[in-house]
Amino acid sequence: IPVDRFDLVIFGATGDLANRKILPGLYRRVLAGQIPEGSQIIGAARSEMDAKEFREQVRGAINEHVSPSKIDPEAVEQFLAMLDYVAIDAKGDGGWDDLKAKVRPDAINAFYFSVAPALFGDLAERLHMRGIAGPDARIVVEKPFGRDLASARALNATLAAHFDETQIYRIDHYLGKETVQNLMAVRFANILFEPLWNAQFVDHVQITVAETVGVGGRGSYYDKSGAMRDMVQNHMMQLLCLIAMEPPYHFDPDAVRDEKLKVIRALQPVAPNNIVRGQYLGRGKDAGYLEDSEDPESKTESYVALKCHIANWRWTGTPFYLRTGKRLRARTSEIAITFKEPPHSIFDEAEGDWRENVLVIRLQPNEGMNLKMMIKEPGPGGMRLVQVPLDMSFAEALGEEGAEITDAYERLIMDVIRGNQTLFMRGDEVEAAWAWTDPIIEGWEARADRPQPYDSGTSGPDDALMLMHRDGRRWREIRE
Ligand code: BG6
Repeated sequence: IPVDRFDLVIFGATGDLANRKILPGLYRRVLAGQIPEGSQIIGAARSEMDAKEFREQVRGAINEHVSPSKIDPEAVEQFLAMLDYVAIDAKGDGGWDDLKAKVRPDAINAFYFSVAPALFGDLAERLHMRGIAGPDARIVVEKPFGRDLASARALNATLAAHFDETQIYRIDHYLGKETVQNLMAVRFANILFEPLWNAQFVDHVQITVAETVGVGGRGSYYDKSGAMRDMVQNHMMQLLCLIAMEPPYHFDPDAVRDEKLKVIRALQPVAPNNIVRGQYLGRGKDAGYLEDSEDPESKTESYVALKCHIANWRWTGTPFYLRTGKRLRARTSEIAITFKEPPHSIFDEAEGDWRENVLVIRLQPNEGMNLKMMIKEPGPGGMRLVQVPLDMSFAEALGEEGAEITDAYERLIMDVIRGNQTLFMRGDEVEAAWAWTDPIIEGWEARADRPQPYDSGTSGPDDALMLMHRDGRRWREIRE
């Protein structure tokens, strides 16, 4: 869908996120012909430099973060020509008049706060009070959106003092992932699954986001956060919502977000014996968590596995198991829905390897779907059953288009320009997610809980396996 001419201001334009994701993403949209002529991208940061120097910085970022096959010298020049720069003092007066002179009221205006949340209030106030951001302007904010309910509420109030909720775009980059959006297409554009999508037919759901990276390099941020705040409260929660929510009446921002919010509100508190925390140990030349975090006493978790229940008509009785961790065996994210066994078997169960149907949605890598089904084992040996996969890779099924998976940030930034909030978190959603997460974290703190050590390159701590075994279930293997 084409967009209109816009002015996008990136606060924190010299920072890591801007260089790694936002600016390369915008370049790729120029390459795709999606950025209308006459649009401006204005970098704003503390460093004193001119537009020419900023363009050189961005050229470097493109060379580093865009794959060489996508570097087209003409498109790079076209993109660089759209860039401008203002040195700005977020807490003072410096640079604001300059910025006001550059932002055109007759174009779409968007302001990306790629800065520490402590600055959100200062930026919001200056943009509003100085008349730079009008009533149609959009502001984009990044995680961490608070570190608990109280701080998230305070941030929401700070933004609400100057902007309407319809102007605020809270990014959770998982919602920008192609396959995450596909969850909604699979559920609501097919008749096949939805009639079975409830506690009557679903035995349990597993959501796994496994990473191989550690926290080296960002230990000081991560150590104050941990897997619960860094991954579960936001990304995992969004996946859970998309799997569990009721069909919205329309694919409309508030209709979708209303349904997600209902899921979060229906989540039951998690008892301490239904949650396992882990911390990775070093292996060979790879440092352990305690070295990466630079706090030899750290009690922060790099792994969480938990079992939760959604108390509503659809899901009571179906447990949802979530796990995420760093330095695990493979980088893989998937959702597995295990269905119950048929109510009555006409086959002798001794004849073959009887298993339940499982629908696996692979989010990354090898985006695709796999439905495990029972069929007859070929041959004259009688009615023996065997489980086989009905496997689909999106890349293979869709050819080149499937292989061309747009980066989450690119999609989300274009949605901001289009003014579509469907894939952004609403303030009440974020608060509800913290309201569920807070008592879990407070419990750990009150008990001075220590995470269980686990070996790097494995599937996490042993207790996480027990969380499933004691229910007579098994985690799926973590592998690419
Ligand atoms: C970020 C977390 O939000 O998501 C990181 O802060 C994590 O710790 C990352 O590594 C995972 O994102 P992706 O897109 O690589 O799955």
